[in-house]
Amino acid sequence: MVGSVELPNRLFVAPMAGVTDRPFRQLCKSLGAGYAVSEMVTSRKDLWHTLKTSRRADHTGENAPISVQIAGTDAAMMAEAAAYNIERGAQIIDINMGCPAKKVCNKWAGSALMQDEPLALQIVEAVVAACAPHGVPVTLKMRTGWSQQHKNAVRIARAAEQAGIAMLTVHGRTREQGYKGHAEYDTIAAVKAAVRVPVVANGDITTPERARDVLAYTGADAIMIGRAAQGRPWIFGDIAHFLATGEHRAQPLTQQVKRWLLEHLHDHYGLYGEFAGVRTARKHIGWAVRALPDGERFRAHMNTLDSCDSQVQAVTDYFDALSLSHDRLPWVDLSTAEDDTDALAAEETAGASACAAN
Ligand SMILES: Cc1cc2nc3c(=O)[nH]c(=O)nc-3n(C[C@H](O)[C@H](O)[C@H](O)COP(=O)(O)O)c2cc1C
Repeated sequence: MVGSVELPNRLFVAPMAGVTDRPFRQLCKSLGAGYAVSEMVTSRKDLWHTLKTSRRADHTGENAPISVQIAGTDAAMMAEAAAYNIERGAQIIDINMGCPAKKVCNKWAGSALMQDEPLALQIVEAVVAACAPHGVPVTLKMRTGWSQQHKNAVRIARAAEQAGIAMLTVHGRTREQGYKGHAEYDTIAAVKAAVRVPVVANGDITTPERARDVLAYTGADAIMIGRAAQGRPWIFGDIAHFLATGEHRAQPLTQQVKRWLLEHLHDHYGLYGEFAGVRTARKHIGWAVRALPDGERFRAHMNTLDSCDSQVQAVTDYFDALSLSHDRLPWVDLSTAEDDTDALAAEETAGASACAAN
């Protein structure tokens, strides 16, 4: 439960700027995720009408609950952004205190807020006050702290709970770490022990075993998965099956993966149109084929295609050919796959500051 909103399970999709748009959230939800937070929407009013922001705030046909993440450094503006998103269908408002981007809309925001606890609390109070009349719960996503020497997640969690936050998500890294090193779960366990509201553990959960272990170690009420769901949105169903039975379910059929990807592409083009759609779909297709046989060659070829039809045809041909030799998708150990988090972090930074660009 988040406030009065009931969630179907404890496997959540992490908000990822430039990735977790409505088509991707829908896909993850249809494959076992219980909850997905939409990408950060700027609290700057002058940007609300832009194409990027309105695409981000598009919840057409999305399974409830609709949760929208907001970020910013001005309490009054954040409160307004919350109210605006509620008008547009948000049933849960999430405050982003976990983004390592140096600048969000030319101001320090995201996890930089963890360094200024009074301001962080002011923002929480203002957003809670704006949401309460609508019965909309407010959640908070943060890191373990500012730096190794300043791990203040527990203190912020306690204060946020006092101020009326209904759920807390903790990514087990400090802001200083960016995406480097490993997530640690001791701080998440300490946050869980310090508050009564539900706590969500996040960071480096890439396998069903890790999901089980993180849940057990931290005592968290739920887990949130980001990068491991890229190109592998069925991971939520895999984890649910493993948690329920202690066994791994079979890899999905190659033809089934093709159908999921084609459906995703269809939704994706519908939201973005052909020009932007083909280009932004490349990363999703690339993630889907990374580490699969001939995946790199296919990815390079696919990046040269610039129409929906040719992209769809190439994906169809690739998976049809693969299914001749592999009835089920070959198993890929992504925990040892090449780490592209620097690129991803750059993307997050770009996503976070994109509001300033248009
Ligand atoms: C490309 C990318 C974009 C992200 N954008 C956001 C964001 O907008 N808001 C946010 O709170 N976290 C954002 N994150 C952080 C994730 O929500 C998550 O906390 C982090 O990736 C750790 O989880 P993981 O190891 O399962 O990926 C982003 C991460 C990535 C890789």
